[in-house]
Amino acid sequence: MKALVLAGGAGTRLRPLSHSTPKQLVPVAGRPVLFHALDELRAIGVREAGVIISEGRPGEQIRAAAGDGSRFGLDITYLPQDAPRGLAHCVIIAREFLADDDFVMYLGDNIFAGGLGEPLAAFRSGAPAAQLVVTKVADPSAYGIAELDAEGRVTALQEKPAVPRSDLAVTGAYFFTPRIHEAVRGILPSARGELEITDAIQWLVTRGHPVRADRFSGYWADTGTLADVLTCNKVLLDDLAGAVRGVVDRASELTGQVVVEQGAEVIGSVIDGPVIIGAGSVIEDSRVGPFTSIGSGCRLRGAGVENSILLDQASVHGVRTIQGSIIGKAGDVRRQEDGSTMHRLLVGDDSRIDVPA
Ligand code: G1P
Repeated sequence: MKALVLAGGAGTRLRPLSHSTPKQLVPVAGRPVLFHALDELRAIGVREAGVIISEGRPGEQIRAAAGDGSRFGLDITYLPQDAPRGLAHCVIIAREFLADDDFVMYLGDNIFAGGLGEPLAAFRSGAPAAQLVVTKVADPSAYGIAELDAEGRVTALQEKPAVPRSDLAVTGAYFFTPRIHEAVRGILPSARGELEITDAIQWLVTRGHPVRADRFSGYWADTGTLADVLTCNKVLLDDLAGAVRGVVDRASELTGQVVVEQGAEVIGSVIDGPVIIGAGSVIEDSRVGPFTSIGSGCRLRGAGVENSILLDQASVHGVRTIQGSIIGKAGDVRRQEDGSTMHRLLVGDDSRIDVPA
């Protein structure tokens, strides 16, 4: 089975990070979201993946990061999309790559903790035209939603309905037979001007092709917002297996699962896992964790950081109250040494800072 991975979205809700980093490359639990996806696809037996990327810099960044796919055990073919024309449009672009194979379409900002083995097995055994993965959500109007009958057959779908008729969101993993190629050509653009995959699946349902859905039992998130990214980081870190490849001095104390990557140094600090400390980072006289991912080349001195993500080369000096935070690449948070009690901020575009009352 092939995979079609969609990694072209702009990620406007992930600003400011997405100004410089495509949303699929934002790190959770120490690795880009997309890498978790590629690992999962390999784990369910995929060997060939088509990756839809946008034209221009974000697409090039994804190509440079994931390469030819060999380090994931995959053979990747990149398929550029000129503009965001919808998920069904991605299937049209990939027609030649997909040929007449079954495939899993996977949205590159989605995380399925616990894996996709179950829905794949259901797709194989039930042999529907399409197999969806659904999950109950509190805010169905933010998603494509599916109505199911008692046997798990999909009877109707709606894309982000104002008045939802179901609370089952269609998540970003879809198992398709080649029947979908006819469907994506049979639909018209939606009100937002895109060819919606939801409409293509409804096209199948309307014409009597069996579409089934499996309720996902694990944790699912589309890492659309910074809050989602932090939650996802937390869930994935829960399964972390500690490993110290760097240096931890005797004055430091590590509890729980802690990864200290090669070339990283922990000096006189308390690390309360789960925590990942990336390659070459130096943590001194600090308290880190739980649920914290620190990128590579970071510097922490006199810092206190919990439930947070620091991207590469970020630094924190003398600030012991950081939590629920994301610090972008080379971002620098430091205590003023001149005794001032005011905040002095240099805030990038679309950033957000919450200060104590
Ligand atoms: C897309 C789909 C939607 C689905 C969601 C899952 O929405 O259009 O049907 O529920 O992904 O992540 P988007 O996040 O692109 O707005």
